[in-house]
Amino acid sequence: MADIIWGLATSHVPSIGAAMDNHKTEDPYWKPLFDGYAPARRWMAEHPPDVAVIVYNDHANSIDMDLVPTFAVGTAAAYDVADEGWGRRPVPPVIGAPELSEHLVRELLDSSFDIATCNRLDVDHGLTVPLSVYCPEPGDAWPCAVVPVLVNVIQSPQPTAARCYEFGKAIGQAIRSFPQDTKVAVFGTGGMSHQLAGARAGLINEEFDRRFLQAIENDPESLAALSREDYVREAGTEGIEMIMWLVMRGAMSERISRVHDTYHVPASNTAAALALFQDLGDREPAAV
Ligand code: DHB
Ligand code: FE
Repeated sequence: MADIIWGLATSHVPSIGAAMDNHKTEDPYWKPLFDGYAPARRWMAEHPPDVAVIVYNDHANSIDMDLVPTFAVGTAAAYDVADEGWGRRPVPPVIGAPELSEHLVRELLDSSFDIATCNRLDVDHGLTVPLSVYCPEPGDAWPCAVVPVLVNVIQSPQPTAARCYEFGKAIGQAIRSFPQDTKVAVFGTGGMSHQLAGARAGLINEEFDRRFLQAIENDPESLAALSREDYVREAGTEGIEMIMWLVMRGAMSERISRVHDTYHVPASNTAAALALFQDLGDREPAAV
């Protein structure tokens, strides 16, 4: 049977990818952020999954505003890297896991999540930057296959945080019922607080971010209880991306252990964070 081995929550700021692509990770601006990733990257490299289920949002790059599914699952055998206007990132194409995708779609529908399916999808920074956070130097191929799970966070009304948490629980159950022996990591992407436009552009709310970073481990219910208006008020119009971390948390077991986290301001004009959790299930934590 498939097993969820860890969950990674991470910001997906495009300039974090650009810093890697342009070899700027040692620049004074970027070094503290990437230094903060190092212990998590070492641990993940020692615990490689077969498949990453990556919960992310497209930013009107592949899914335009004509048709906006609330929840969707990618079902393709491969996903091209999106050209977001300045050329494709120089990273490998993303290889899918269509059998796991098919299983997830069926199980989610049977759990009353009437999701859309993306049979062709170019994946934007929301997915490729988290892959680079996991694996900074993939060479010719990423180290795992990927199932993209899309959440609408860019067009109001977004799904509630509570619904995202429930969606995550359904995804976790679906993964664990996949009959093939497969090690799965679940990524929750986006955040932390940020607002890219409007009167509050540049908003950062460190107090809210740090509370969220703590509660996502042991009190996700308190985060699921917040309304979409709470998220937008506290974390900014784009900070509501943080509801996707709740999908990741919902997919994991109740028992998890924090391997590492880091919080850094600014990345672009965003608060950026990473939090890595081992899924304990009925296991004891591995040495860090
Ligand atoms: C930016 C874009 C994002 O999608 C995000 O999550 C954070 C920052 C940006 O353009 O800076
Ligand atoms: Fe984003």
